[in-house]
Amino acid sequence: MAKALCPGSFDPLTYGHMDVIERAARVFDQVYVTIFQNDAKNPLFTVQERVEMCREAVAHLPNVTVDAYHGLLVEYAKRQGISIVVKGLRAVSDFEYEFQMAQMNRRLDAELETFFMIARPEHAYLSSSIVKTIARFGGSVTGLVPPHVESRLLRKFGRSV
Ligand code: PNS
Repeated sequence: MAKALCPGSFDPLTYGHMDVIERAARVFDQVYVTIFQNDAKNPLFTVQERVEMCREAVAHLPNVTVDAYHGLLVEYAKRQGISIVVKGLRAVSDFEYEFQMAQMNRRLDAELETFFMIARPEHAYLSSSIVKTIARFGGSVTGLVPPHVESRLLRKFGRSV
């Protein structure tokens, strides 16, 4: 059974993430959407909130499991018997960072492969950070994140829904 890992901060999940997850779910038998800690980021949502938002978003995909892990990605992959990591690439600017992580993960576990999926052009400019900025200052994030994520963002920034 081919298992794939879609790792990320998912703070919060966007339609860009959803596109990669849905495409991975068509290619692999089982997909794990797992929330990891990114030391370079200070998250807006708790891990529990991010797990809930991801679970609701993938409820229609029977072969997708949502999980969270505090530790190294390679450790988690080994525990779950996963040998493929799937990451989205939006633009050349993503490449350097993703390349570094893929190389380091391979150094930590030579069996682990990283596959890259090219994001759809309409998602090229979409990121969790930009969504948070727009929502923080009262702009509309409709069409960038699922409706339940939009509601959570509005609540987080004290705007009622
Ligand atoms: O969505 P992000 O923030 O780009 O995802 C990055 C993430 C969370 C996948 C990355 O930071 C990660 O793998 N964190 C877990 C700890 C780890 O294994 N770090 C990489 C060592 S090379």
